[in-house]
Amino acid sequence: MSTQLQKVKELIDLRAEARVGGGEKAIQKQHDKGKYTARERIGMLLDEGSFEEFDMFVKHRCTNFGQDKKHYLGDGVVTGYGTISGRLVYVFAQDFTVWGGSLSETMAQKICKVMDQAMKMGAPVIGINDSGGARIQEGINALAGYASIFQRNIMASGVIPQISGIFGPCAGGAVYSPALTDFTIMTKGTSYMFLTGPKVVKTVTGEDVTQEQLGGASVHASKSGVTHFAVNSEEDGFELIKKLLSFIPQNNMEEAPVVECTDPVNRMEDSLNEIIPDNPNKPYDMFGVIGAIVDNGEFLEVHADYAKNIIVGFARFNGQSVGIVANQPKMLAGVLDSNASRKAARFVRFCDAFNIPIVTLVDVPGFLPGTGQEYGGVILHGAKLLYAYGESTIPKVTVTLRKSYGGAHIVMSCKQLRGDINYAWPTAEIAVMGASGAVEVLYAKDIAAAEDKAKLVADKEAEYVEAFQNPYRAAQYGYIDDVIEPRNTRFRIIRALQQLQTKKLTNPAKKHGNIPL
Ligand code: HXC
Repeated sequence: MSTQLQKVKELIDLRAEARVGGGEKAIQKQHDKGKYTARERIGMLLDEGSFEEFDMFVKHRCTNFGQDKKHYLGDGVVTGYGTISGRLVYVFAQDFTVWGGSLSETMAQKICKVMDQAMKMGAPVIGINDSGGARIQEGINALAGYASIFQRNIMASGVIPQISGIFGPCAGGAVYSPALTDFTIMTKGTSYMFLTGPKVVKTVTGEDVTQEQLGGASVHASKSGVTHFAVNSEEDGFELIKKLLSFIPQNNMEEAPVVECTDPVNRMEDSLNEIIPDNPNKPYDMFGVIGAIVDNGEFLEVHADYAKNIIVGFARFNGQSVGIVANQPKMLAGVLDSNASRKAARFVRFCDAFNIPIVTLVDVPGFLPGTGQEYGGVILHGAKLLYAYGESTIPKVTVTLRKSYGGAHIVMSCKQLRGDINYAWPTAEIAVMGASGAVEVLYAKDIAAAEDKAKLVADKEAEYVEAFQNPYRAAQYGYIDDVIEPRNTRFRIIRALQQLQTKKLTNPAKKHGNIPL
């Protein structure tokens, strides 16, 4: 064999060594836990044959605790680039078969390299997390590695989309990288995220809690809102990432891809003319409205299990990607509270950062009153949503279906918060507050003095309903651009979005605003 051929063979052997990561036994262990390896995951995520790997021959440099005697080529993370539906993406997948995917100095450098590359090219980064945290043997170098990654997450925020898959453990400070990214997806049963594990929790607080109860996918999807999606399997997770990316541009200087629309733009939806119940206190399902108006009824809901009184997610109108924010009358009457405000604010800011227009569907009785909300800082959380709508420069179309009261009216993309086109259905009630509250405040003394209190209340409420509980007061002042027939909503939104395509709006130059965090 010639020297050259020998060298080629050596290369092939080294590549084969790198491809088994921590070895066959560790791979089997990973499979036994119902998890895929880093390379299998990348294979499932990217277009077939598109993956180009970086840094296969990287080795750690640690000499503590006998580490110098053990090396795995590639060192605990597989990194590189490829395509999803033909579009460039950068990926890193932590390899649990190498010291539990724990983060070393060199691993961090590999991750930072793909993040830097993604920033230069203006392409999304997808990180698959499955790691025991900082590599203990590396001490402060591992911590410095995390910090370098976080710094890049922060700089990339709002420039390129960042998506985190949590498909195994993600604990300690390591959780902050996913938390800084735009979307997090967790697998049910095999992933968890927490700052301190059950043992430390027990020591510090005495609380007995399992990993699943503390930081499983369902907990973070429904209680904390830390994860945007909880999926049943890694396969589902990868399909979701692909779908999510289809609604999102490559970077903040581009527009989301426009797909061919197979749903007639002027499709009338007669059912919408009868969807609002006669009784104003009776709920209906906002998903029914969303499904009826968007292209082919397709809606990718974000944060589906968290703060269900507000709905956020992606859909298309005439093939154009939009973010939808909608109150859900079926859940707590669609009231705005702290969690709903935070959920919607983050979504609005994502859409604004990435040039995705927002369609807001309003049916909101107001903010949830009470000490629970006030002590929890609903003032600040509500202000986040207000701020998010008010600073955004993307096209915004608002449709008020029924209630739109008080502060919640203002927050939900009203005209003065840069709502570009504001429509209302004839069933809209746009006022400072509902009839009973208003009559109580305005006629307290008269009611106290009245012989027939019930009649006076009923009369005054009827008067108020007649005067205020309709869209025409707002339309009279131009706060509503038009009152539209519900069945025409799809067409009117598409027209509005078309009109807004060349919208140009910029905020005053500043270092950054001071959103009430
Ligand atoms: C070095 C680690 C490691 C770590 C796991 N391993 N975590 N090596 N540093 N952090 C090694 C194990 O020794 C083992 O090596 C192999 O990875 C697989 O781990 P197992 O324990 O066999 O796997 P499993 O039973 O599935 O348990 C997974 C685990 C557990 C729950 C993640 O390994 C664990 O609790 N690890 C420690 C987690 C932790 O406390 N990390 C530090 C957090 S502090 P062998 O050779 O036996 O196969 C932190 C700070 C970050 O991360 C701050 C950032 C700002």
